[in-house]
Amino acid sequence: MAKTYEFVEHTHDVVVVGAGGAGLRATLGMAEQGLRTACITKVFPTRSHTVAAQGGIAASLKNMTPDSWEWHMYDTVKGSDWLGDTDAMEYLAREAPKAVYELEHYGVPFSRTEDGRIYQRPFGGHMQNYGDGPPVQRTCAAADRTGHAILHTLYGQSLRHNAEFYIEYFALDLIMSEDGVCQGVIAWNLDDGTIHRFSAKMVVLATGGYGRAYFSATSAHTCTGDGGGMVARAGLPMQDMEFVQFHPTGIYGSGCLITEGARGEGGYLVNSEGERFMERYAPSAKDLASRDVVSRCMTMEIREGRGVGKDKDHIFLHLDHLDPAMLAERLPGISESARIFAGVDVTKEPIPVLPTVHYNMGGIPTNYWGEVLNANADNPDRIQPGLMAVGEAGCASVHGANRLGSNSLIDLVVFGRAAAIRAAEVVDPKEAVPTPSEASCEKIMDRFDGLRNASGSIATADLRDKMQRTMQEDAAVFRTQESLEQGCKRMSAIWGEMKDLKVSDRSMIWNSDLVETLELENLMANAITTVYGAEARKESRGAHAREDYKDGPLGGRNDDEWRKHTLSWVDEAGNVKLDYRAVVTEPLTKLEDGGIDPKKIAPKARVY
Ligand code: FUM
Repeated sequence: MAKTYEFVEHTHDVVVVGAGGAGLRATLGMAEQGLRTACITKVFPTRSHTVAAQGGIAASLKNMTPDSWEWHMYDTVKGSDWLGDTDAMEYLAREAPKAVYELEHYGVPFSRTEDGRIYQRPFGGHMQNYGDGPPVQRTCAAADRTGHAILHTLYGQSLRHNAEFYIEYFALDLIMSEDGVCQGVIAWNLDDGTIHRFSAKMVVLATGGYGRAYFSATSAHTCTGDGGGMVARAGLPMQDMEFVQFHPTGIYGSGCLITEGARGEGGYLVNSEGERFMERYAPSAKDLASRDVVSRCMTMEIREGRGVGKDKDHIFLHLDHLDPAMLAERLPGISESARIFAGVDVTKEPIPVLPTVHYNMGGIPTNYWGEVLNANADNPDRIQPGLMAVGEAGCASVHGANRLGSNSLIDLVVFGRAAAIRAAEVVDPKEAVPTPSEASCEKIMDRFDGLRNASGSIATADLRDKMQRTMQEDAAVFRTQESLEQGCKRMSAIWGEMKDLKVSDRSMIWNSDLVETLELENLMANAITTVYGAEARKESRGAHAREDYKDGPLGGRNDDEWRKHTLSWVDEAGNVKLDYRAVVTEPLTKLEDGGIDPKKIAPKARVY
């Protein structure tokens, strides 16, 4: 080891990395069941990116329109473009109402109907009657600050159950035994520079997405795919990384999110001719078609010269026809964002918007209990001992090739909760905590020390900028063989340049230069697997829209060859290896036992 770092030792039954909605729901669930639980987080829990989730959380409560878990499951299957795992999608839709009522009982201040029930709004792709419509009101909301409300409640409840928080600690890597068991994690306390070794029987990665691999994203700057980076360095696969969601309504310029709830409450998009163009593309769902569809339609309008503004390069979202009192009550947050980031009074003028990177459908492969899968084609369900992943970091896979709006918050709490239920079954509090592998710890600290002392010629910020612009240009809303091949070439070259990074600050306390360098390495593992996975997938499906594969009855989707999950590995030299894993097509419950009719969810063309 280049330099000896002393460890502050900790032992726990469970260590959760990340304190967003999934991390906190897992932490709370583990602690509630008496497991000695630590939660490590690089930002204060209530500043995690879930705080920015606006529109709501999907569950078939039936408070405002007829609904059922089967309709919710159908919409999720269709939204995923038939790439989601059927068992996980059934689990999500069935458990959603229970998970939301639990949140209510924990204290989440949901908005209310006149008669006191949880308020629910329409959201894109959520319909009644197995997609036939009309739109269903399924998205439970706390005005347009739903994530904020959930995060604060879960943090308070976790403290109440004596979970231990390690705040502003940056997780460096997983400790892996010689025989491949995850034994804990090493983290750096940013505030005092100490290094902490957390030995645990189970590590839960809840580190969020990697939106910041792109130049323009609704994601916080902290969304750097740290869990994916750690998993890749442990030699484990990632899954379906090519599916990156663009949200239709990021504010033009800043990328700040304007919730889909704005269209749920009656807002609509127009082009430079004042036309509500979504009526042409999606005659039934219109502005409430699923996100990938709306983002593509907006992009086509702009390309065909019907964008708005001086450069005709964006679209207008109108809310100015809506009741100002309703806007103040239901959409106060985005009214404020529009004023601050676009200089627009939403009661009088339209908001300039543009599709913006928002969510990663891919991530660390898991089953629906959150157990990480060390999968390959021959061992699609092999469980990785000692490791779980939940939330956007994981890939259960409920969202498949495209996630429906408000299915993210419900994913966080349903699968955070599921991981806790499973951990209580597989973690024995009486058993000894494993002794961490010294060889693994040494390797982790060697890498850390190497980056801390990196003395090349490229500043981290410059290389990050290169990566972000490459991803934005080459792995965009629409993709071609040419753009993706170029993306692979450029990303491999950027990977090579990481050897020449320059870190100017060698200190251990609040060294943001080093934090950003560690984050860049994590982002790169996510980004390179995204572009290589996309280049290899010769079809269009969900958010992976290839202009060279768009014909045929399914619009370029090729179920015969490509209804399968991509698995990807990246080694230290940046070589990406791909393999595939079958999609789970069996529901959890058979029809005769009260399950969904398999005919209802059989693959077909996805039209809205
Ligand atoms: O539009 C929104 O409020 C975002 C919700 C989501 O991504 O689920």
